[in-house]
Formats: sequence, structure tokens, C-alpha cells
Amino acid sequence: MQLVRWSPPVSLCMSVFLRRQSTATAAAFTSSAAPETQENRKPKTGILMLNMGGPEKLEDVHDFLLRLFTDTDLMQLPVQNKLGPFIAKRRTPKIQEQYSKIGGGSPIKAWTTMQGEGMVKLLDEMCPETAPHKFYIGFRYVHPLTEEAIEQMEKDGVERAVAFTQYPQYSCSTTGSSLNAIYRYYSSRSDRPKMRWSVIDRWPTHPLLIECFAEHVVNELEKFPAEKRDDVVILFSAHSLPLSVVNRGDPYPQEVGATVQRVMDRLGHSNPYRLVWQSKVGPMAWLGPQTDEVIKGLCQRGKKNLLLVPITFTSDHIETLHELDIEYSQILGEACGVENIRRAESLNGNPLFFRALADLVQSHLKSNEPCSRQHTLRCPLCVNPICKP
Ligand code: FES
Repeated sequence: MQLVRWSPPVSLCMSVFLRRQSTATAAAFTSSAAPETQENRKPKTGILMLNMGGPEKLEDVHDFLLRLFTDTDLMQLPVQNKLGPFIAKRRTPKIQEQYSKIGGGSPIKAWTTMQGEGMVKLLDEMCPETAPHKFYIGFRYVHPLTEEAIEQMEKDGVERAVAFTQYPQYSCSTTGSSLNAIYRYYSSRSDRPKMRWSVIDRWPTHPLLIECFAEHVVNELEKFPAEKRDDVVILFSAHSLPLSVVNRGDPYPQEVGATVQRVMDRLGHSNPYRLVWQSKVGPMAWLGPQTDEVIKGLCQRGKKNLLLVPITFTSDHIETLHELDIEYSQILGEACGVENIRRAESLNGNPLFFRALADLVQSHLKSNEPCSRQHTLRCPLCVNPICKP
């Protein structure tokens, strides 16, 4: 089976890595699935679910922040090997306090596990030719780390590996960082990968993803008083990026905009809306308008019925449970005198979302392509040496 059908003119390191894999080891995936459990099966196809992850316990917060602030793909700081650990240590108590307010840890691993199980169950039914399927979780900043997951996949004897980003919209600082971790894993070792890799690098407008978001918006709109419903302003809130990242040509803002536009199309443009940006840190300029400033500005202008929709993460995490729910909806909302402010539920355990994930993997495997065409183009002003082809 020939995995690579075309030769992109320019590529990121990961897509080069994909092309360099020997086609000689390509196997035909023809046997049918045996009814085994996820744990004891010998998988033919491994799906590595990539995400940043979050600390499950308060004592994990420091190491989470340390990995995050020393990740040069995510951010570049002066003397990062010293400043990164310093910032991580200084911010740990504040972030621990935030996690303690949302139950003592991040739910992202629990949700990813549920989503992976739902996806694999469907895939075994939908694609017997590539079964058995097994999902692996590869987090960037907490265990199970991406490198640990790859090791496990190699140990399990996976033949066909799919690196599946759980960020629907691509950014070099999120998905790019995870893919660079895979690339670094193999480039630091003498042995070549035994598995044949390919990548699902973005899926901002997948129809079932759009359907899920639209469904969650409608469900939440119905909870507003009927006489206010038409006046509700929908605020799609996305994690922001430093302008330095945006200005080197990162595709993320455009892809987030595409998701928002498709969701509003699906909703028949029932309400006015804006795309807003949250989670700015530090003194540098970030992409705006900031979600909290927009809430204030709208309230001052008499728009006091607001629906927040997290549009870039697919499960709950601290930015939904603390930033949107506590900081903005409770504290800021009260200070601004909102009438009604609600937050659309994250996709979490929605079975339609499991189907979206399975459909993405099925289409990807059938396409026989190593990655999207878009992934072969570097940011026009990229200065990260690891992105070099
Ligand atoms: Fe985007 Fe290097 S930072 S390709």
C-alpha cells in the first residue's frame, strides 16, 4: 500500500518525516476485527490523540507549568531554560488555587479517554479492514506524555499509526508542538519507526464537529428567558495567541473563524455573534478583542444577555471551568450587571462527537494521504529551526 500519493513542494519536519518512512514496510490491512477488549487486543491501527493535557492533581501543577514554559515551540522567552522554570515556580500557587476551585484537577484525561473509547468502538464497526483499533493519549505537558505513548504503540506492535490532533484548528504552538515532539522522539533515536505514520493535522469545518457545536449552542439558547432569546449575543471564545505568532503567518485565527462561520451558517444566523479571544498572559500584545473586555463593553452598551461558546477545545479544561465559568460568568458578569450569561457545554461525552472523531479517522485512513496539503506549507515568517524541511 502506497501511503504517500503526492510530493509537497515544501513541508514541515513532520511531513518530511512521513515521506521518508519506508514504503517497503507497508502492510495491507485486510483482516477483520476480532471482538477483543481495548486493553488486551493487539492493535493493527493505533490512533494517538494529541493534546496539551492538564494536571490531574494539585501536585502535578508545577511540572505541567514547567513543561509548558520551557516548550520553545509554544513560546519563545529570553533565556528560556532559566526564565521558564522561574515563571513556572512563581505561577504554581495561583494555578493550584484555580484547579482547587474546579475540583482539584483537570478533567481532560477523563474526557479524552471517554472520547477515545467511543471513537474506537465505532471504528471497529465502520472499518474492519484496519481493525483492531486502539487509541493512545499523547499529552504535551502531563502524563501520559507523547513520547510515552509512542513507546507504548511501538511495544504493542502497531502497524499503522495516526497522529490525531485534538485541536480542531491548527496552530504551530499547539498541534505543531505535539508533532514536533513526535519528530524529536524519532530523530533522537537510531532505530526507524516500525509503524507507518500519518497525521490528521486539522479539522476546523468537519460537518459533525459543526453539528455538535450548533447543537450545544441551541441547547443553551433554550435556557434563556423566551423574551430575551433573540437578543442573546453569542460570543465564540477561543484561546488567544501572541501577535508575534499570528504575524508570522500561523493559520489558527483563520481556521477558528472558519469554524465560527460554519456554526453560524448551521444556526441560520439566528443571533448576533462575535469571535473573541481569552487567556492572554504576560505583557506582550495578543490577538483580541479579549473575551472579558467584550463582556464589559457589551454590558455598557446595553447588551446584557450573553452566551459564551468555547470553540477551540473539545472538552472541559481550566479555561472553560475557571476562566469562562467563574472569572467571566460569575465574577465579571455580576460586576458588569449582566441579565443572563450562560456557557455552552463543552463537547465532552456527546456521542455525536465520538462519531465525528471516528469519521475523521475513517476518512483519513481511506484517503491514504500522509497529512493535509495545508500542513505542507510552513508559516511564511517561521523562524523555528525544527520546522525546516
Ligand atoms: Fe509555523 Fe514554523 S512556526 S511552520
